[in-house]
Amino acid sequence: IVTEPFDYVVFGGTGDLARRKLMPALYHRDLAGQLPPSARIIGVSHRPGSTDAYREEIGKALTEASARTDDARAAIDRFLQRLFLVTADGRSDDGWAELRVLLQARPDSIRAFYLATAPDLFDQICRRIGAHGLVSERARLVVEKPFGTDFASAHALNEAIGHIFHETQIYRIDHYLGKETVQNLLALRFANALFEPLWNAGHIDHVQITVAEALGVGQRVGYYDTAGAMRDMVQNHLMQLLCLVGMEPRSARDADALRDEKLKVLRSLKPIDGSLVPALTVRGQYRAGMADGAAVPSYLEELGERAQPSQTETFIALKAEIANWRWAGVPFYLRTGKRLPERVSEIVITFRAIPHSVFDGAAGPISPNRLVIRLQPDEGIKLELMIKDPGPGGMRLRQVPLDMSFSDTFGVHVPEAYERLLLDVIRGDQTLFMRRDEVEAAWGWVDPIIAAWQASGEPPRPYPAGTWGPSAAIALIERDGRTWHEDGA
Ligand code: BG6
Repeated sequence: IVTEPFDYVVFGGTGDLARRKLMPALYHRDLAGQLPPSARIIGVSHRPGSTDAYREEIGKALTEASARTDDARAAIDRFLQRLFLVTADGRSDDGWAELRVLLQARPDSIRAFYLATAPDLFDQICRRIGAHGLVSERARLVVEKPFGTDFASAHALNEAIGHIFHETQIYRIDHYLGKETVQNLLALRFANALFEPLWNAGHIDHVQITVAEALGVGQRVGYYDTAGAMRDMVQNHLMQLLCLVGMEPRSARDADALRDEKLKVLRSLKPIDGSLVPALTVRGQYRAGMADGAAVPSYLEELGERAQPSQTETFIALKAEIANWRWAGVPFYLRTGKRLPERVSEIVITFRAIPHSVFDGAAGPISPNRLVIRLQPDEGIKLELMIKDPGPGGMRLRQVPLDMSFSDTFGVHVPEAYERLLLDVIRGDQTLFMRRDEVEAAWGWVDPIIAAWQASGEPPRPYPAGTWGPSAAIALIERDGRTWHEDGA
């Protein structure tokens, strides 16, 4: 529970992210009784509007997403009383005086400025927050992704916001870190004695990290075409997951101790550049195909007139390696894409094969143990073991899962990532946010890969919507005598 009064100032307050994610997250925490009565949420938008109209608009979005009971309606109405709208422009000083008056009414409250606007405004808005004297002792800045488009731009943005806010006040969001099962990865690794002794190159054959989406890019095609899967997903979400799998236990409880360990992983990544890029990475772009039994258009058709022929990738598979004592020689296969057959995110740890079998051939093949950490949907953890097939038929071996599904075990609604992260900002806990040096190190690894793609001029490989990416992605892992994990496989 947060007891201290706070003001959440959401720039881009009428935008898509605010409507779809931020407001529902705050509403759910309110519903759970976690917001103090005096907490205010101030949407800032360049579009002229009134607080009344804003409350109505957000109320509608919340009502559509919740049960239509009288209780829910009353709870939404209560929540809406916390909302205010200020019309102010990130590109000019218009409207900022009104924001100042609103905030100065409560000078001692915690103040969180959330940048949920187009990224080219981040720098300007920050400067205006500074210039209008809004940075109080207890101010915080939350920055959405994309945080830069390469090392140089991320560095410049860090410099710019670093002039206005201290690093201890800056919260760079990667919403994957707020996902319940991602945090569970930490519990699994460091609250159990079982795995840590095996968590190294001596016992782990390889790691797979898959973040697959069934949707196409849809409405976001304008942004997406400038980013592609590498910038949109790999540089942040997948690399953060890789860090949590690969890092050492933290040496102290504070946020920096954990972030120090993630940074070491990023710095240990073997560079992939120049001639290594074609062998270790595969990019794809979806063509027309099927999704959920219906025909769907290609990426280029979604892009329309805008920028054809686009070379933006909607799929990536790559093979990374953490070059340190724990992981040397263990491949980390990463893949992510849009318009794949299903929405599934998982981390799969495949252990080494047993060194020697004491069974004869009739017992059947012995599969290596596998730990599958499923982030979504159906959050859960599964450990695949070999057992004897029950019955009198002699020694026949079979692989079975020890399966733990969160919803079956706890029967509770798993909170959305933003619910946790938005309140961590108010609590002043930076553990699940990216530090400046982490973001820059991640770009430092990604940049040469993008540069090599650009230099080669080769377009991404086509794949039909509704398939697991180009066949080269399958070849990437099969060349090493391994296969991508599929449920039940
Ligand atoms: C966002 C990306 O960061 O993550 C989107 O910009 C992507 O392209 C989304 O769809 C996926 O998030 P989630 O929580 O639905 O897996």
